[in-house]
Amino acid sequence: MTDRIETHLGTTEEGQMAQEQANTSTTASDVAATSAEDSDAVRTSGGDPDDLNPVIIELENVNVYYDDFHAVSDVSLPIREREITAFIGPSGCGKSTVLRCLNRMNDLIESARVEGGVNYHGVDLYGPNIDPVEVRRRIGMVFQKPNPFPKSIYDNVAFGPKIAGYKGNMDDLVEQSLDRAALWDEVKDKLDESAYALSGGQQQRLCIARAIATSPDVVLMDEPASALDPIATLRIEELMYELKAEYTIIIVTHNMQQAGRVSDRTAFFSVDIQDDGERTGRLVEFSETATLFTTPEKQETEDYITGRFG
Ligand SMILES: Nc1ncnc2c1ncn2[C@@H]1O[C@H](COP(=O)(O)OP(=O)(O)OP(=O)(O)O)[C@@H](O)[C@H]1O
Ligand SMILES: [Mg+2]
Repeated sequence: MTDRIETHLGTTEEGQMAQEQANTSTTASDVAATSAEDSDAVRTSGGDPDDLNPVIIELENVNVYYDDFHAVSDVSLPIREREITAFIGPSGCGKSTVLRCLNRMNDLIESARVEGGVNYHGVDLYGPNIDPVEVRRRIGMVFQKPNPFPKSIYDNVAFGPKIAGYKGNMDDLVEQSLDRAALWDEVKDKLDESAYALSGGQQQRLCIARAIATSPDVVLMDEPASALDPIATLRIEELMYELKAEYTIIIVTHNMQQAGRVSDRTAFFSVDIQDDGERTGRLVEFSETATLFTTPEKQETEDYITGRFG
C-alpha cells in the first residue's frame, strides 16, 4: 500500500511545466483509503469514533520558518476524507502557510522551511522520494483571486490532463469537469472564448473545474470567495457542498459565517507575540464546526468568534 503510493508520488520528469494545480489522469481511486487510523492529536468533539470518515492527511508537529522567522509552531491536525475543513483566525496567524504545507506549495517560496510530518494516506509528503509535482496533482489548489490561464475556457480545463497524457475523450472530460463545477450550462456555447471574458465568479468556478479535471483527491482553497460578490460567493459555497461527496476540501476563510455554513470541522489559529516581538501562529482549537461556534473549549476561541479579538 505504502509502496504503491510512493510509486505514484515518486520522482518523474514528466509534466514539470504543469501549473501547480494541473493534475494527472491518475485517479484517486488508485489510492485505497485504508489509513483510517484514528489518531486525532487535537480534540475532535462529538460523534462516535467509528462513524468518523478516515483520516486522509495528518499534520504532525508541523513548524514552518521563513528564513529565521518562526511563522507557525507545532501544528498537529487530522483532515478527514470527504469533509470540508475550515481554517480560521486573525490575519498573519499562518492559515495560508499551513494550507501550502499540504501540497508542498511552500517549496516554491525560497525562504520557507517545513519541519514535522505531513502524512497523506500514511505517506510523508516531505519524504525523500516524493515528487512535489505529483503531490500537487493529487492535492489541487484554488487561489483567492481567480487565475485562469490566458487561454480559451476549453483549454483551461484540458491543459492539465493534456500535459499528463490523458488518453480518454477530452471533450467528455471538459464537459464533465465544467458540469461538476456548476459552470457547464453557462459556458457550453462559448467554450472557445477566452476565460478572461467570464465574470469573476465564473472564472473562479472555471479554476475549480481546472483543479478537478484530473481527479485530485483533495482540493485546497485559500479564501476562494473573498474577491466575489455575495451571490457568486453563495454559488461557490453550494458548489463546495456538492463537491465534498467526491473530494476532501480544506478552505481558508476570513468569513466566520462562511466557515459555519460550509464546513464540517474548523481549526482556529491564533498568533503568539514572543518577547522579541516575533509573531508565531499556532493552532488553538480544532473541533466539529457546530461545537467550535457554540461551545468552544478555549476562552481564546470564544473571544475570537464573539468578536472580542482579531
Ligand atoms: N513568503 C513569505 N515570506 C516571509 N514571510 C511570510 C511569507 N508568507 C507569509 N509570511 C509570514 O508568515 C506569517 C503567516 O502568514 P500567512 O500568510 O500564512 O497568514 P494568514 O493567516 O494566511 O494571513 P491572512 O489572513 O492575512 O491571509 C505572517 O507573519 C507572514 O508575514
Ligand atoms: Mg492567508
